Amino acid sequence: MIQNNIEAILKENSLIPVVTIESLDQVDNIYRCLSSQGIKCIEITLRTQISWEAISLFKEKYGSEFQIGVGTITSNEDILNCMNLKVDFMVSPGLTTSMIQQFEDSGIPFLPGVATPSEIITGINLGWRVFKFFPADLFGGAKALKVYGAIFKDVSFCPTGGINKENYQEFLDLKNVISVGGSWLLNQ
Ligand code: 3PG
Repeated sequence: MIQNNIEAILKENSLIPVVTIESLDQVDNIYRCLSSQGIKCIEITLRTQISWEAISLFKEKYGSEFQIGVGTITSNEDILNCMNLKVDFMVSPGLTTSMIQQFEDSGIPFLPGVATPSEIITGINLGWRVFKFFPADLFGGAKALKVYGAIFKDVSFCPTGGINKENYQEFLDLKNVISVGGSWLLNQ
């Protein structure tokens, strides 16, 4: 299965809320806000002191209803923690060779980040086909993805970074966009 079948999760969930949790008290409200929009998945970032606790709590309370992913994966230790918590998917803002083997061996679906053609080619040469395009707004947005679509035929993207309720549909309408992600889903 390519990237431990990340494609299945993204196909099911065209909108991926990227959520940074500052306090454990927010978990129930976040769940309610996303559920009320019919959303059944969440990417919780590793950007606060309590991120791992928040991921664990979200999983304990709502793991049967939600696909729970971890974002901002930047080290092998992060991947180990994801394996211990048995999270549903992992997202990295970039593509680093040091994490390749552990991503593959984890058994957990994973979405590596790319922005440039060279990074996409590196990913393709690893046998990967689905990437986070980040930060989408700074690297050419939908225009860049159209160009990538003409060059990299079998590759699909989940753009994040600067996606909002005004522009997300434009991204989703692209043939090579499988899903879109961002913080706007919680903050609108
Ligand atoms: C991410 O990690 O995907 C981004 O930080 C989300 O970007 P946004 O806040 O602009 O949606």
